[in-house]
Amino acid sequence: MFLQNSLTLEILKKYPNEYFLETGTFQGHAVELALEAGFKKIISIEIDSYLHGKAKEKFAAEIAEGRVELILGDTAVIFEKIVAQLDKPTTFWIDDHWSGGVLLGKYKCPLPVELEVLKNHPIKNHTLLIDDTRMFGHYWGLGLSKESVTEQVMAINPDYKIQWENGIEANDIMVALPPPLPLVIVPVSTLENVEDEQSIHLL
Ligand SMILES: C[S@@+](CC[C@H](N)C(=O)[O-])C[C@H]1O[C@@H](n2cnc3c(N)ncnc32)[C@H](O)[C@@H]1O
Repeated sequence: MFLQNSLTLEILKKYPNEYFLETGTFQGHAVELALEAGFKKIISIEIDSYLHGKAKEKFAAEIAEGRVELILGDTAVIFEKIVAQLDKPTTFWIDDHWSGGVLLGKYKCPLPVELEVLKNHPIKNHTLLIDDTRMFGHYWGLGLSKESVTEQVMAINPDYKIQWENGIEANDIMVALPPPLPLVIVPVSTLENVEDEQSIHLL
């Protein structure tokens, strides 16, 4: 099976976090990029046992170090359990969909299930990169539209900013970017009165 890669190092570096989670490992291209981009923990889920096995061979060293975790399964079924373990904002590369042949998963495109899981997750400032939006409305993307997906994304966090990156075609990757963390400005006069460093955190 030949699939054109859409994610680039340049794009990925724009959306850093400690964790990277990919749906649809395929041949491990995005895992390679995430390692190069400096993500500390990389998790990737794949439904096809052959592809999962090959990726395990390819990343054996990084798996042994604990930096890469490859999981075999259908995201429609296991995504909730995996996401429940995330304790920090994560960069998601959501890229799993039917790619021809026998349908292995419950759905041709589990994206709506994944977004529903993220809506129920306590961390609301994950960064979401959703690939292949050109396919919404046809082939494996039947039933999806940019509007319906945007609505689901905004239900996770109404402050998400939606922007686009080029993938297989221009503006094919939808990016949901959380707002920057607010700056807490502490007046200098207040700092002069605090006795120790511990109390600064309590201000
Ligand atoms: C477009 S490829 C992924 C490409 C890869 N993310 C990259 O950036 O190089 C889609 C992959 O999703 C996998 N896939 C499809 N449905 C899935 C599902 N329900 N759960 C997990 N993986 C799935 C396919 O087997 C295929 O390997």
